[in-house]
Amino acid sequence: MSEDAKQTMNQTVIVTGASRGLGAAVARIVGEMGARVVVTARSEDKLAEVVTAIQAAGGAAIAVPGDISDPVVVRAVVDAAITHFGQLDAIVNNAGVLEPITRIAETDAHDWQHNWTINVLAPVMLTQAALPHLRAQKGRVINISSGAAVSAKIGWGAYCTTKAALNMFNSTLALEEPVITALAVRPGMVDTEMQALIRREGDSAMTEQDHAFFVGHHQQGEIPAPAIPGRAIAILALYAPPEWSGEFIRWDDERVETLIS
Ligand SMILES: NC(=O)c1ccc[n+]([C@@H]2O[C@H](COP(=O)([O-])OP(=O)(O)OC[C@H]3O[C@@H](n4cnc5c(N)ncnc54)[C@H](OP(=O)(O)O)[C@@H]3O)[C@@H](O)[C@H]2O)c1
Repeated sequence: MSEDAKQTMNQTVIVTGASRGLGAAVARIVGEMGARVVVTARSEDKLAEVVTAIQAAGGAAIAVPGDISDPVVVRAVVDAAITHFGQLDAIVNNAGVLEPITRIAETDAHDWQHNWTINVLAPVMLTQAALPHLRAQKGRVINISSGAAVSAKIGWGAYCTTKAALNMFNSTLALEEPVITALAVRPGMVDTEMQALIRREGDSAMTEQDHAFFVGHHQQGEIPAPAIPGRAIAILALYAPPEWSGEFIRWDDERVETLIS
């Protein structure tokens, strides 16, 4: 391991949406890589399982359960990182929702508002609360985006607009905060509850062709398990260099593995 990598062994990382799916995988892997982890999501039992798994692997983790759209929870998550671990080096804004899966003509503005709150405002709030600590550590903000940020899909208006907004948040953050490293990451298709939701309910508003695309990839076993992109995201959270700040990066970008080789 390089000298740089050794210096990152005691980093503290916050992972949102860590109760399942991609977030749980990222949390476990940053823990295995030696970081101290603060996990948050609403499902207290599942968060406790993630903490137990990290501790069983010799790592350190705490859970702060709650709804990430609540400013009180956001503050509690950052405070817990500082109180328990003394510093904060990276946040992974991973919590996200796909719903509503509806076409614009049939949609309810409140459903869009909910999506925007979780997918955009929550990352903005958590980043703002974390900034003083991230500046002190020359830390990183990893925003979990999507190909949907740059490719519209029928029935996914709320989700596509929020992921596009998250990318622009990431670009703006990189400009305003030169001391920290901000990345928007595209994890590709991941075998999680979000994909199951697409298969279950997507046909209500998506085109038949789009829906069949996701169903077909699942049937062929072609959707990666969360630990696969999760490992790349963990590497980026711990080691992404400042010169990449502002980028919208794919999880399988060939530069990622070079960070730990
Ligand atoms: N799966 C894919 O194919 C795919 C592709 C591209 C991008 N992504 C992105 O990857 C990220 C993770 O998605 P996933 O596939 O792992 O989805 P998932 O399995 O549905 O997990 C979503 C996570 O977000 C949490 N969450 C949702 N609403 C929340 C709230 N109000 N407060 C706190 N936590 C909340 C959930 O925990 P609780 O329910 O316990 O609160 C859960 O841990 C998302 O940003 C998603 O947009 C996924």
